[in-house]
Amino acid sequence: MKVVSSIIQMRKITRTLAADRKKIGLVPTMGFLHEGHLSLIRRAVRFSDIVIVSIFVNPAQFAPDEDFEAYPRDEKNDINKIKSTGGDIVFIPKVSDIYPDNFQTYVDVEIIAKSLEGKSRPLHFRGVTTIVAKLFNITRPDIAVFGLKDYQQAIVIRQMTRDLGLPIKIIIAPTVREKDGLAMSSRNCYFNPEQRKEAVCLYESLRIAKRAVKDEKIIDSAVLKGRMIKLIQSICPTAEIDYIAFTDFESIIPVKKVNKNTICSLAVKIHGVRLIDNMKMTGRGQLL
Ligand code: PAJ
Repeated sequence: MKVVSSIIQMRKITRTLAADRKKIGLVPTMGFLHEGHLSLIRRAVRFSDIVIVSIFVNPAQFAPDEDFEAYPRDEKNDINKIKSTGGDIVFIPKVSDIYPDNFQTYVDVEIIAKSLEGKSRPLHFRGVTTIVAKLFNITRPDIAVFGLKDYQQAIVIRQMTRDLGLPIKIIIAPTVREKDGLAMSSRNCYFNPEQRKEAVCLYESLRIAKRAVKDEKIIDSAVLKGRMIKLIQSICPTAEIDYIAFTDFESIIPVKKVNKNTICSLAVKIHGVRLIDNMKMTGRGQLL
């Protein structure tokens, strides 16, 4: 397995791979890898000949009051994990190469990037789409894999890929969870054991909503939302709910009544750590 940090070298490698007609898969990450990330790498291995995993904590997607500096980093461990999961190339560019002096061009998706996460974190998706467009441009993948855990991010990236006419298939992979249901996240390491237990309230609230739809045939979003808030507060009384939203999966337009295309997403601050999660409200499991 190769570890590459130079953009020029990365371009050379992918050019050669493309000339050899190798199918390239890309898994963009910010490192501190867990099973969720590794599941994306496994999926990329299944769908491509060569898998590139990028590690880049992207300053452009963090607001000044967010955790860019504190974001957990462990490159050595990440490289070992990627190797044992079947990755072929780890791309770790430098911030100064991605954002050189006088950098001033951003990729900005309009409508679907402005609600939910986009509302709470106004420049976040602009930072995400800019780095992902740059990574696509440097690595020229045939497929790229993203997690459903960051559902809106995946939809926004798919829109960007379509709008810019990039010949890349975007694959969205299911959320990997801890035993108790908490969605795996690099930020879960911020919790002490007591706080960690309370963090399960996001998953539990999604589950009771889905169960109410299935067993009680409740489809009114406001009623479901009310139950979710109650449950979150019962598990974590200090939780700060940023949003709970029932939206159409593709368009991210809010829906008053749940239907087969409805996904519920939420963002909640648990003891100062902002977590997000989501679940489709109908169908088996949590898949698309
Ligand atoms: P990061 O948070 O490191 O996540 C990298 C990828 O892993 C994303 O596609 C994310 O959705 C996926 N992922 C995270 N937790 C997951 C889980 N529990 N189950 C399945 N997939 C999971 O998302 C980013 O980085 C960045 O915004 C990035 C796209 C790399 C751009 O900087």
